[in-house]
Amino acid sequence: MKTIVANWKMNVGIRESIALARGTLLALRGRMHVPEVIVCPPFTALADVNKTVARSHVTLGAQDIYWEQAGAFTGEISARLLVETGATHVIIGHSERRRLFGETDEAIGKKTAAALAHGLIPIVCVGETAEQRGSGQTEEVVIRQLRAAFAMTTLREKDRVCIAYEPVWAIGSGKAATPEDAASVHLALRRVFHESVKSGADALSVLYGGSVDGKNAYGFLRETEINGLLVGSASVKLQQFTEILHAAGEAIEGAEAGRRTGEAKKS
Ligand code: PGA
Repeated sequence: MKTIVANWKMNVGIRESIALARGTLLALRGRMHVPEVIVCPPFTALADVNKTVARSHVTLGAQDIYWEQAGAFTGEISARLLVETGATHVIIGHSERRRLFGETDEAIGKKTAAALAHGLIPIVCVGETAEQRGSGQTEEVVIRQLRAAFAMTTLREKDRVCIAYEPVWAIGSGKAATPEDAASVHLALRRVFHESVKSGADALSVLYGGSVDGKNAYGFLRETEINGLLVGSASVKLQQFTEILHAAGEAIEGAEAGRRTGEAKKS
């Protein structure tokens, strides 16, 4: 399976969110191979988008969460409140939150624990800056972020988790990582996750994010190490996003065909 997450950021209001959700449903209609799709509108549009995608296999994610359950935390939204809107997923630790709002590894750990405690699937973002990449620290940085995100959590059998590898320098810059570089970071993340957070293969999806568009999506999606994509700017452009969804369908079809050939050879 491939997973496509649309991070609409603060770019759309309620009406535009509904239109994008409808467009997403249309883009998937009648297709043989469809990815898992999670749309993440601003908080204000969650409930309306939930109605639009009800009874489809598009699901709903929020862009952030606060770790306390309830109380005097003006402006914050807890897991319980998110679940009420119909959200099943939540993006945690996006680099914009780390950079612009001072989110620490510790806060991200608390948010991840709160999401999981309420049955939300966390989409935990990790990624290195250009400077860190330049000095060869990519793996060290993302592994530290990964460990911190799950430091306060003991995953149960049924828990699912997404990790999004999003190099900071690639976000919104038009300069994506190469699929090969992304796949090698994914491999390291998967190894550390299984060694130090939870073993067992089904629990984890590793996504790539950062300047994904309709043209480069397939190159990422055909890598077996890359379970899907987290898409920002191209996710609010319906034409681009449709191309990405179709690229995911092709990648799923290609992987199935590859598996069938492999099985035929074995038997
Ligand atoms: P981008 O953003 O696709 O616009 O680079 C990705 C993200 O911020 O999740």
